[in-house]
Amino acid sequence: MFGKKKDKPEIDKEQLELIKTAQKRIKQKKRLYAHFVIFLIGAVFFIVANLVLNIGKDVKLFGINWFVFAILAWLFIFIYHVFNVFVTSKLLSKNWEEKQLNSMVAKQKKRIAELQQQIEKEHPLPTEIKRSIKVSKKSEITLIVAAGENDAIGKDNQLIWHLSDDLKRFKELTNGHHIIMGRKTFESFPKPLPNRIHIVITRQVNYKVPSGVIVVNNLEDAFDAARSDKQPFVIGGGEIYKQAMPYANKIELTRVHETFEADTFFPEIDTSIWKEISNSYHAKDEKHEHDFSFLTYEKA
Ligand SMILES: NC(=O)c1ccc[n+]([C@@H]2O[C@H](COP(=O)([O-])OP(=O)(O)OC[C@H]3O[C@@H](n4cnc5c(N)ncnc54)[C@H](OP(=O)(O)O)[C@@H]3O)[C@@H](O)[C@H]2O)c1
Repeated sequence: MFGKKKDKPEIDKEQLELIKTAQKRIKQKKRLYAHFVIFLIGAVFFIVANLVLNIGKDVKLFGINWFVFAILAWLFIFIYHVFNVFVTSKLLSKNWEEKQLNSMVAKQKKRIAELQQQIEKEHPLPTEIKRSIKVSKKSEITLIVAAGENDAIGKDNQLIWHLSDDLKRFKELTNGHHIIMGRKTFESFPKPLPNRIHIVITRQVNYKVPSGVIVVNNLEDAFDAARSDKQPFVIGGGEIYKQAMPYANKIELTRVHETFEADTFFPEIDTSIWKEISNSYHAKDEKHEHDFSFLTYEKA
């Protein structure tokens, strides 16, 4: 479902390369076959010229007719041609070059990994610092959430309200991005949302999902799976928001201005860490049964 369009050009490129190589090999073999035929005709011609037409009848080397040497010399050139087609061109093909390059890169990577391990062994870093280094290389991680005044976000694995403008904003902001979620939030959807790459976090080993949905077993792997995205979104629920908050750079919050009974909550936003950078208020109307505000926070 996801990313199919992206994969197709890659397959086409590979196929094109294979076709080009096959065409080149066919040409090489055709030329070799033509060489073989000309060599046979040439050899017969030399024999006839020497033995029948008596051309160079007296030219001999070590008592052997010249045509034998001529044929042997040509045979040598022909063998060289065969060697070129079946050995040299295969050995020095693009594939071979790529293999050499890959093996060199793999060796370098192995060496770098060994050095890293050695350094880590000699100068170990605390786990928390290690984690933040790994995550800080990644993109702008954004938590997107709608929460009541008491930070309520859900009850019985469902949202508590229906605010169409909030859903619209969620759609606009997350469209085309990776969305990271806990298994329970994923199961609260009737089906995966279109045009977004779903990353579901679960501790279950064989958790089954529709094709295109990525399953990971911890938060770090979720960030890693979204590393190509400049702005991956963490979309809930309560457990995942809590764990992801220390790694996030941004919070897109829809504050629903009421207190709700709930079983799932958003963690408190620490205003000594998070700075509000935008705030727009929406009064309730016929489409929205609660007042709400769109707020954006960035890490100070
Ligand atoms: N208002 C909003 O904006 C909003 C947004 C999203 C969700 N929600 C609501 O939030 C509620 C769901 O939130 P929730 O806290 O109950 O569940 P959740 O965070 O969606 O998912 C919890 C599950 O995630 C997995 N998990 C959590 N931490 C993990 C870790 N470190 N490693 C591996 N797996 C991990 C576990 O799955 P396994 O049990 O499979 O191991 C766990 O049971 C629902 O009511 C939903 O409607 C509200």
